[in-house]
Amino acid sequence: MCGISGAVGHKDISQDLFEGIRNLEYRGYDSCGVALMNSTKLIVRKNIGGVEEFYQKENVLRHKSHLGIAHTRWATHGKVTRENTHPMLSTDKAFAVVHNGIISNYRELRSKLQKDGVKFVSETDTEVVPHLMQKLFKQTGNVEKAFVKMLGMLEGTYAVVLITKYHPDVIFCARKESPLMLGIGDEVKYVGSDFNAFIEHTKNAVIIEDEEYVVLTRDSYTVKNFITGEEIQKPITKIEWDSETSKKGGYPHYMLKEIYEQPQTILNALEVDEKALDDVVDYMKDRPTYLVGVGTTFYVAKYAKYIFSRLAGRFFPSISSDEFVALSPVDRNSLVLAISQSGETYDTLTALKHAKAKGAKTAAIVNVIGSTLSRMVDRVILQGSGPEICVISTKAALAQMVILTNLAMRLALKTRKMTKKEYNEGIRALKEMPEIIGNVLNERSGFIHRIANNYKNIKHWLYLGRGIYYPVALESALKMKEVAYVHAEGMPGGFLKHGTLAMIDKDIYSVVFMPPPCEKELYQSTLSSVAEIRARSGFVLGIHFDERGKNRDLFSEELILPAVPPLVAPLLQLVLAQLFAYFTATSLKRNVDKPRSLAKSVTVG
Ligand code: G6P
Repeated sequence: MCGISGAVGHKDISQDLFEGIRNLEYRGYDSCGVALMNSTKLIVRKNIGGVEEFYQKENVLRHKSHLGIAHTRWATHGKVTRENTHPMLSTDKAFAVVHNGIISNYRELRSKLQKDGVKFVSETDTEVVPHLMQKLFKQTGNVEKAFVKMLGMLEGTYAVVLITKYHPDVIFCARKESPLMLGIGDEVKYVGSDFNAFIEHTKNAVIIEDEEYVVLTRDSYTVKNFITGEEIQKPITKIEWDSETSKKGGYPHYMLKEIYEQPQTILNALEVDEKALDDVVDYMKDRPTYLVGVGTTFYVAKYAKYIFSRLAGRFFPSISSDEFVALSPVDRNSLVLAISQSGETYDTLTALKHAKAKGAKTAAIVNVIGSTLSRMVDRVILQGSGPEICVISTKAALAQMVILTNLAMRLALKTRKMTKKEYNEGIRALKEMPEIIGNVLNERSGFIHRIANNYKNIKHWLYLGRGIYYPVALESALKMKEVAYVHAEGMPGGFLKHGTLAMIDKDIYSVVFMPPPCEKELYQSTLSSVAEIRARSGFVLGIHFDERGKNRDLFSEELILPAVPPLVAPLLQLVLAQLFAYFTATSLKRNVDKPRSLAKSVTVG
């Protein structure tokens, strides 16, 4: 989950490289480094800290170069130190390497090299690569041959990019289960762990597949399979995102920008390819279906479980990707539907591989075009939410919920659990959402900001919801934990009295997600949870739709939303909870877009 950027050009590329890793910082940001070719010498600068800070401190941009590689790291093997920062060098300083993923047999490789007298300077798995290259180059006298031989010795997952003084105009790179792509500009060719590494310069990308390696020069790219040696003709993929969409556009943080983009993201979600939706519905019709995701997308899957049950009368278990293999519930009759913003999350990819190995059908809802997940499943729905840069998922998650609602309605229509009229009403309610969310964001955010600021010092929150409001409570609590580092626990309202109630006193604060009053039973039962808390002097922040309700006295504080159909009510509440977490985090001066210890796409297990 680190970021890789590399460039080779007819002109100086040092600025491009800087922008490349700065745009990738959301993938990992505890340290960063760069290797630049200076005629036939490698200049390497690296240090702990964020990209801008590092570039400034080390005055990196004073070094000009036509070829280089850069890396932003999120530590997995080895602590956050300068030594463990990429690029890694061979002892003779002829090879510089950046790498994402995990080389699982690095201990064996390392001890063999150590027996040959190699002295390691870092604790990383990556460092075996440059040392192996030095050794194999000595044997073969040919960098490409040595590179292929070296790749044959690595086990695990990797995107590896290498430069060497022996070929000062070439970048060598390869991929196995860790994303890698090329950007094909006129004057400069790029390599990156995702489009953001070069999107400002070119929209022409070449997606590298597993077991492929590339010899990249300023004018050409040759892609070969490193097992068979066969050359592969690769199509150019046009990236539809633009670099402006990737920028902050006047907002103080990407998180806020992305929350405010949600009206548009919902519109996009409602315009996803209908055939792609129906293809997945066809799979679901007569198959036991498992919904899989992790972190936010697990809660999206939980949300979908309620939606499918409610609208289509089907029970689709939701399973956290990291638990999927342990549960191992699939066979060749099943469908596994994965949900992922990045399409690169290791746990979700592992779950899918397991499902495929068992012969199950697979499908996915994914945001990132060309991602590993999008290419490995039988059917894919591209959610079209545009780049989500903040580590905390907001707009992508909401869009996934909308798409899953649409899927459930289509399944219900197809299986006659819903009439065409009901279906049309549902679609209308979804289509009205962008405007309502836009208004809520504009009208209520000042108020939410004030509430968040007032309660920023609360240490423990309970987030309660019943029915479909329960996954909303879970996801809202996760936002609070991720971005504000405040303890928030999501729980079904009915569960409260089975233990947690013992804890309630004036120091435990609760947020309760109230359904609209028209959902009578759910409304009443949620209200009883509120009463249980209030009876024990607990504080309740009610998020509700009940402008004139007689029960409003029960809440200690309230956030009131406009009346909307039940189908979209939980989604509207989620938007408020996102803002509540955001403003709590800013009031506590947290690093909103890059919370400590987190990374946007967790590509390790
Ligand atoms: C990481 C991120 C979470 C994200 C999860 C799933 O844990 O920190 O915010 O929800 O991965 O990511 P995905 O890209 O698969 O949706």
